[in-house]
Amino acid sequence: MTNVTVIGSQWGDEGKGKIVDWLSSRADTVVRFQGGHNAGHTLVIDGTEYKLSLLPSGIVRKGKMSVIGNGVVVDPNALLDEIDRVAKKGVEISPENLKLADNAHLILPVHQAVDKAFEAARGKSSIGTTGRGIGPTYEDKVARRGIRVCDLRDKDLLKEKVERLMVHHNALLKGLGAEEITPESVMEGLNKISDEILSFACPVWKILDEAKAKGQRILFEGAQGFMLDVDHGTYPFVTSSNTVSAQAATGSGVGPKTAGYVLGITKAYTTRVGSGPFPTELEDNTGQRLGERGHEFGTVTGRKRRCGWFDAVLVRQAIKTGGIDGIALTKLDVLDGFEEIKICTGYKLDGETLDYFPAGQAEQARVEPIYETIDGWSDTTYGARSWKDLPAAAIKYVRRVEELIEAPVALLSTSPERDDTILVHDPFQ
Ligand code: GDP
Ligand code: IMO
Ligand code: MG
Repeated sequence: MTNVTVIGSQWGDEGKGKIVDWLSSRADTVVRFQGGHNAGHTLVIDGTEYKLSLLPSGIVRKGKMSVIGNGVVVDPNALLDEIDRVAKKGVEISPENLKLADNAHLILPVHQAVDKAFEAARGKSSIGTTGRGIGPTYEDKVARRGIRVCDLRDKDLLKEKVERLMVHHNALLKGLGAEEITPESVMEGLNKISDEILSFACPVWKILDEAKAKGQRILFEGAQGFMLDVDHGTYPFVTSSNTVSAQAATGSGVGPKTAGYVLGITKAYTTRVGSGPFPTELEDNTGQRLGERGHEFGTVTGRKRRCGWFDAVLVRQAIKTGGIDGIALTKLDVLDGFEEIKICTGYKLDGETLDYFPAGQAEQARVEPIYETIDGWSDTTYGARSWKDLPAAAIKYVRRVEELIEAPVALLSTSPERDDTILVHDPFQ
């Protein structure tokens, strides 16, 4: 039985939530394996919108198991608020269908304070983080001073760990001129949520092992995107986790072979939220038009997303480095009505031509895109549910994208609605 791992192949917000929700009808279990509530995944089902940040996008389907893996950093208050918000829309969420890894690390209010204080201290060179405390929590994890879900079970040990953690963070907060936080207030916050959080906690690797033994299908749901990966992305303008498919294994406690078919979710143009290089960014009317047609505003922070043409060099790099087998091309409808559409096929850097995105920060900022121009289409693709409903020029665009990125299109999305999706080949087979 094949599993599927979904990852973003650009800078996030490619439409992963919509595609995971669509694919989850074919899966038994949906697993988040990295990131946290910096993610914002929007699903639209028969006109009802669901905004998810920590809950796996399979949660809205009855009878599916949702798993938050050990690689996710979990803000317990944000998780409980989200459960409450989504449950109010009629979605059933209980310890029966939601499992939280007991070795996942917790985001505490202090992580958010440190995230914001460091961003402020960086001034003009800030990363533009979501301010959710993602980076500082992953830092604590690697530095071996983090607080995990399972620590909530032992109050004495928890108190000791929190005291040690706050010695570290209060020194930082003091140095940055921010207000210090007492260990007592941290403990008070944790005591309030610990019983409810622990009701979802378990060794999720066992749940996944049992699912595998029963021959069930697992769908791994990545957050963010390839270019935000801490190793492969536009460092330091990245998030603090690995967003590539290999992380599905370490971030949930399954072996590397379990990832199965890797589906890269790919927007038909490019967007980015936050700072950092973006070679095909359009700061003109065309960029404005893409943003308006695509409603490019962040789900989490409401920030306007930067927009630009499709960058085939970046996506090809994501495919090679991220082990992507095929893509889901989303938001094709946003390109409807453009007379001409451009695709970046290479870069110019200091008089040389590059067929890859270099690693250096200054080089990344300096590369100039080389464009190929393709005819647009005046008909609409919005809501198309079959290949034959697409204008010939739109098909030509999709075929050219496949050629340039050296990977096939498995799915095509033509609106935010769940069912406005064209299946070209089934990633589960
Ligand atoms: P994610 O973070 O990758 O899950 O993506 P987001 O949900 O943050 O952003 C994608 C946005 O585009 C959401 O508002 C979706 O409802 C919307 N969307 C997804 N697919 C399509 C599509 O094919 N066409 C259009 N017009 N909107 C889409
Ligand atoms: P989804 O899952 C787009 C960006 C932030 C910032 C950088 C670091 O919805 O695709 P962080 O708070 O993670 O330390 O911020 O990463 N970022 C995202 N951009 N989509 C996301 O998630 C993102 N999650 C983080 O804007 O530039
Ligand atoms: Mg998003």
